[in-house]
Amino acid sequence: MELNTVHHFDCIEGMHQLPDMSIDLAVVDPPYGINFRSSNRKKYPLKSSDGILNDELDNADFLESVIVEINRVLKTNSHIYWFTRWDKVKIQQPLLEKFFQVKNSLIWMKMVGRWVISEEPTPDNMKTFCFARKAAGT
Ligand SMILES: C[S@@+](CC[C@H](N)C(=O)[O-])C[C@H]1O[C@@H](n2cnc3c(N)ncnc32)[C@H](O)[C@@H]1O
Repeated sequence: MELNTVHHFDCIEGMHQLPDMSIDLAVVDPPYGINFRSSNRKKYPLKSSDGILNDELDNADFLESVIVEINRVLKTNSHIYWFTRWDKVKIQQPLLEKFFQVKNSLIWMKMVGRWVISEEPTPDNMKTFCFARKAAGT
C-alpha cells in the first residue's frame, strides 16, 4: 500500500493489505452505533442525512471486527485513539479491552467550529474517546 496517501476504501479490506504489526498509531472515528441522522442542513443535505454505514444501534459485531484487525496491524506498545459517544463507552470500552489496555477516557472540548452551537456540554461540542495501548502478547 502506498504510504503518505489518503486511501478511500472499506477499512477492513484496507487493513487486510497491511502486514502484521506494521502500524505505529491508530486514530479511529468509527460509526458510534447511534443510528445518526443529520438534520443540520435542510437545503443542502449531507450524505449522513440518510444515515451512516454500519451505524446501527447493535453494531458491536462490526466494531469488534474492526478492533480485531487493528490489533493485528498495530505494533506492540503502540496506541489507539478510539472516538465514540459518551453513552457508548460502556459498550465499546469492553470491546477494546479484549485486545488493548485502556489507559484513559478523554474529552476533546471543541472550542471553535460549526458544531459549537451550545454552551452546554453536548455530544456535538465535547467528543469522547478512549486511549489504549497494545500490550505485548496480545
Ligand atoms: C463517526 S463517522 C466519522 C466521520 C469522519 N471523522 C468525518 O469527520 O467525516 C464514521 C464514518 O465511518 C464510515 N464507515 C462505516 N463503515 C466503514 C467501513 N467498513 N470502512 C470505512 N469507513 C466506514 C462511515 O461512512 C462514516 O463516514
